[in-house]
Amino acid sequence: MKKAILLGVNIDHAATLRQARYRGYDMSCGKMVEPDPVAVALAAEQAGADGITVHLREDRRHIQERDVLRLRETIQTRMNLEMAPTPAMVEFALKTKPDSVCLVPERREEVSTEGGLDVAARIEELRETTARFTEAGIVTSLFIDPDSKQIDAAAAIGAPCIELHTGAYANAYYDTAARSREFRRLCKAAENAANVAITTNAGHGINYVNITEVVEIPHLHELNIGHSILCRSVLFGIGEAVREMKARMRDGITILPRP
Ligand code: PXP
Repeated sequence: MKKAILLGVNIDHAATLRQARYRGYDMSCGKMVEPDPVAVALAAEQAGADGITVHLREDRRHIQERDVLRLRETIQTRMNLEMAPTPAMVEFALKTKPDSVCLVPERREEVSTEGGLDVAARIEELRETTARFTEAGIVTSLFIDPDSKQIDAAAAIGAPCIELHTGAYANAYYDTAARSREFRRLCKAAENAANVAITTNAGHGINYVNITEVVEIPHLHELNIGHSILCRSVLFGIGEAVREMKARMRDGITILPRP
């Protein structure tokens, strides 16, 4: 029987929504600051998420350090911290001790992570970073494009895990030839990684349509999915949210149980 693929839920955009209203607020005590990414993470876990992923970006545009610390104390599954391999972030991660880190490239101007990490160009530095995390009991994953050069580099630095960037595939989805080419690249990369005993995760741009094909990529351990799940929760939650507000306007009562 085929092994079940795990689901890591990326909750960054719960924080994006909060920051859209509450950027700069003092969030440290019991004020109404919503949505709370921790509550979103716990609800995701209750629904079956196998892990929670957050990306602490250099510009702190969504997840804040405080969110990461609170998540570390509350979630019951695994915490995967996406981060740029900068000295400050490495120190933060070693202090916070997530179960795993996913090293990603980061450019301030990008909307979301746009390309994979160029591991081949930074072998020495990333070997040392990976070794520090391994010593601290933290699993290192490298977010890379599905290229054999990057997989060889990941093997050379002793990374136990990669996350294949599925963005190019997702973007090509409605162009049959390009999609088939990108899908083959992902499959080949996953085979290459398996041949050198590297665990393969994948993420970026995976949604409720392309998932049926994505799960056919061989050797997948875990998928990290954020945007599409958050979008779906907005769509399916809007009815209840409007009904509750109408009830409060009418009767001043709460009609929904809290998670
Ligand atoms: N994996 C990595 C490394 C990412 O940077 C992102 C985007 O933040 C994701 C997975 C999730 O992508 P999406 O939000 O498109 O599902």
